[in-house]
Amino acid sequence: MLISVLNVTKTYMMDKVIIPALTDVSLEIDSGDFICLMGPSGAGKSTLLHVLGCIETPTSGDVCIRGENTRAMNDASLSRFRNRHIGFIFQNFNLVSVLNVRENVEYPLAIRGGKIDRSRVESVIESVGLVDYMNHRPDELSGGQRQRVAIARALVTNPDIILADEPTANLDSKTGEKIIDLLVHLNRDCGTTFIFSTHNEALSHYAHRTIGILDGRLA
Ligand SMILES: Nc1ncnc2c1ncn2[C@@H]1O[C@H](COP(=O)(O)OP(=O)(O)OP(=O)(O)O)[C@@H](O)[C@H]1O
Ligand SMILES: [Mg+2]
Repeated sequence: MLISVLNVTKTYMMDKVIIPALTDVSLEIDSGDFICLMGPSGAGKSTLLHVLGCIETPTSGDVCIRGENTRAMNDASLSRFRNRHIGFIFQNFNLVSVLNVRENVEYPLAIRGGKIDRSRVESVIESVGLVDYMNHRPDELSGGQRQRVAIARALVTNPDIILADEPTANLDSKTGEKIIDLLVHLNRDCGTTFIFSTHNEALSHYAHRTIGILDGRLA
């Protein structure tokens, strides 16, 4: 078992009102899985991905990844664990606005310290079709181009697990197909585990398993 989620609940507090985003979610994910998360807006897809990616901690319940309970890790060890094992493609991209495309993609490698493999960075940027945009900053790119920078940044470290929050939402169908092809091949050839949320039928078609989510509960 690569990831096991046990009785996870996540609530947010807004003006003293408790908002339940996830309620009693349990889930098991094997290494090499290609899993699609589907549900309407507000269902809890991003929240579940953030909890799986150790970006948010559950209010209660446990998330174990590679045999380690993430609850037992402090912030520094969680960051290191994330950097080593997880690539995250955010719904809102989370690019660094003052860095150009190359620097944004290099960022997770820079955090590790040591020498940055420039040819690796360039080949990943090439794989998302942005070689001509290396020196552009995010505000000099279209929404779909920014999405592809976010994808390249998640791939550059060659993580075991990639969590992708609507990775093709801003792409035209042709560019979307190329990106899907890239993710499917990474899964098949490198055994990378994928969990992604999507409204895209073309992407869900490739999933080994589709998990439905509604009002914070798995269907
Ligand atoms: N930081 C937060 N503070 C308060 N409430 C939040 C926060 N993040 C999410 N929520 C609430 O949790 C619920 C689930 O949100 P989430 O973003 O996970 O939905 P989603 O399925 O990703 O929706 P979408 O398809 O629109 O991206 C929603 O009711 C949302 O308003
Ligand atoms: Mg979302």
